[in-house]
Amino acid sequence: MSVIRCSDYSDMGRRAADYVFDMIRCNRVSSVALPTGKTPRLMYAFLAGQLRCSEIDITRISFVNLDEYVGLANDHPQSFAYELQKQFFSKIGMKQLAVRLLNGAAQDLSLECRQHEEWIARAGGIDLAVLGIGSNGHIAFNEPGTPFNTRTHISDLAVATTDRIPSSYAPKPSRAITLGIGTILEARMVLLMASGEEKAPIIRRAFHEPPSVFVPASALQSHPCVTIIADRSALRESR
Ligand code: GLP
Repeated sequence: MSVIRCSDYSDMGRRAADYVFDMIRCNRVSSVALPTGKTPRLMYAFLAGQLRCSEIDITRISFVNLDEYVGLANDHPQSFAYELQKQFFSKIGMKQLAVRLLNGAAQDLSLECRQHEEWIARAGGIDLAVLGIGSNGHIAFNEPGTPFNTRTHISDLAVATTDRIPSSYAPKPSRAITLGIGTILEARMVLLMASGEEKAPIIRRAFHEPPSVFVPASALQSHPCVTIIADRSALRESR
């Protein structure tokens, strides 16, 4: 596991963008799983700028998202799919891209989970999974207690997670579709981003204590190729 220490949020966003951009430029990845949330926002802004200024043929890259609130369709302004479209895909010419975004409003959610997995398999698996981390250790929406071998599934959100959902969501989602920990562990490379002192205790528990299903991110300890890009505040409890 390698750790890239950044001075602050802005530095983290820039370095994460550089990391993903280099992977794409050097043809090391052709399929990428993408997170949402506050942490990666600046990375998307930098990365979109880098891709636009390059001659890279982005149409050869497949993208999937990690998770979505149950009940929200892709065009719902509060959906993760919409957020990704707005922050990233629309900036790099999404129409030409191979993108699969989870549909939280699918009639048959089990089928939606299966189709996400099938799409990933057809893309040849995930080369690079970019992740954030919840303060309770969740990766994507794999909440504490989730077995490490799960595939894409429906997750009951933890209270700590629903408490953080803004009250502008009406009703507040209580479930999500999420890539499983098993699916994430099969990615060839994992990049985990973290920023802010709020994440410091969970980064310590996830990567400096023995793995436990109660800290989902700790599953990454068994992965052969993990890079953590985090700022000083998020790493302040880590050696
Ligand atoms: C979200 C997502 C995760 C994300 C995490 C951290 O709700 N499901 O994929 O990594 O929680 O979010 P943030 O970056 O806003 O701290």
